[in-house]
Amino acid sequence: MKKFLSAVLFSSLALTFVACSESTPTDTSNLVGVSMPTQDLQRWNQDGNNMKLALEEAGYDVDLQFAANDIATQLSQIENMIASGVQTLVIASIDGSSLGTVMEQAKANGIEVIAYDRLIMGTDALSYYATFDNWKVGVTQGEYIVNELDLANTKDTYTIEFITGDPGDNNINFYFDGAMSVLQPYLDNGTLECLSEQTEKDEVATVNWASDAAQARFENILASYYSDEDLDIVLASNDSTAMGVANALASSYNGEYPVLTGQDCDIVAVQNLIAGKQAMSIFKDTRTLADQTVKMVDALMKGGEAMVNDTSTYDNGTGIIPSYLCEPVIATIDNYKELLIDTGYYTEEEVQP
Ligand code: BGC
Repeated sequence: MKKFLSAVLFSSLALTFVACSESTPTDTSNLVGVSMPTQDLQRWNQDGNNMKLALEEAGYDVDLQFAANDIATQLSQIENMIASGVQTLVIASIDGSSLGTVMEQAKANGIEVIAYDRLIMGTDALSYYATFDNWKVGVTQGEYIVNELDLANTKDTYTIEFITGDPGDNNINFYFDGAMSVLQPYLDNGTLECLSEQTEKDEVATVNWASDAAQARFENILASYYSDEDLDIVLASNDSTAMGVANALASSYNGEYPVLTGQDCDIVAVQNLIAGKQAMSIFKDTRTLADQTVKMVDALMKGGEAMVNDTSTYDNGTGIIPSYLCEPVIATIDNYKELLIDTGYYTEEEVQP
């Protein structure tokens, strides 16, 4: 038995060794590290895999890691990438302010770092930022609500509740503030009314953008404030929080269904769009962002400078970070087919509710 066990152990160690040595090329002059926050949400799987494919097509070796939404895991994965000789790092951070130590290590090793989708804060070791226009995402959600309910012309009052994402994700400042730049005047003049009075960013944040936390918060709000009143609007910054809200509406609400916003065009959100449970999402074609980032990596790996289209918006606390902003596009029941199906992003079967 012992012999058998040690043989199993030996062969699994040998396999591990083969697997490791296969994934770490001995020549690292072409090696790019890609650090993604989690595999829990559909979008990061797509982002990571799209980028890996595109980088490999451009001739690079790729070390792609997902950090299970755990800051310590992301730090150690990046440390390992640096130790294994990556030349450029692409990082979508879990918490934009917690990467100081590895950023210093990257800088000391002459490694260029690109912040992917989420800005990395408080470090001068960051070279570039590639993202969708985060402010525009929030503004588009706010404008959708204004147009849908004709808030500029109505004499009615509509109830609204808010939910955004992880407090450590710098993007929530742009999403929430962008949406509020459109909606605040209607709260001020009484056209919009938030019965829970939870309108501050820290009150409406959701740790890890988690659907179950969003659901729990909304079950509470619905039970406390909307048992006799209709909830007309929910501004949700993204699809994972919108999904939590949709679940809470299903379990704890009997009124007229609200206008519910989102972002990402996750499959479940598109299914909800078709089923009438979510009014809109924002399509951020991860293929576009991945391609753009690959162009940045390519320019840096060849010793050049990356192309940017924004040098005024994203200050990470040490100065403006040159950025490339991709265009977010609104998705509704009216255009999801041409945006998502005709372009091959999803098949019609995948998005059936
Ligand atoms: C991204 C969103 C995403 C959210 C949760 C944000 O930083 O910009 O697209 O929905 O994180 O993962």
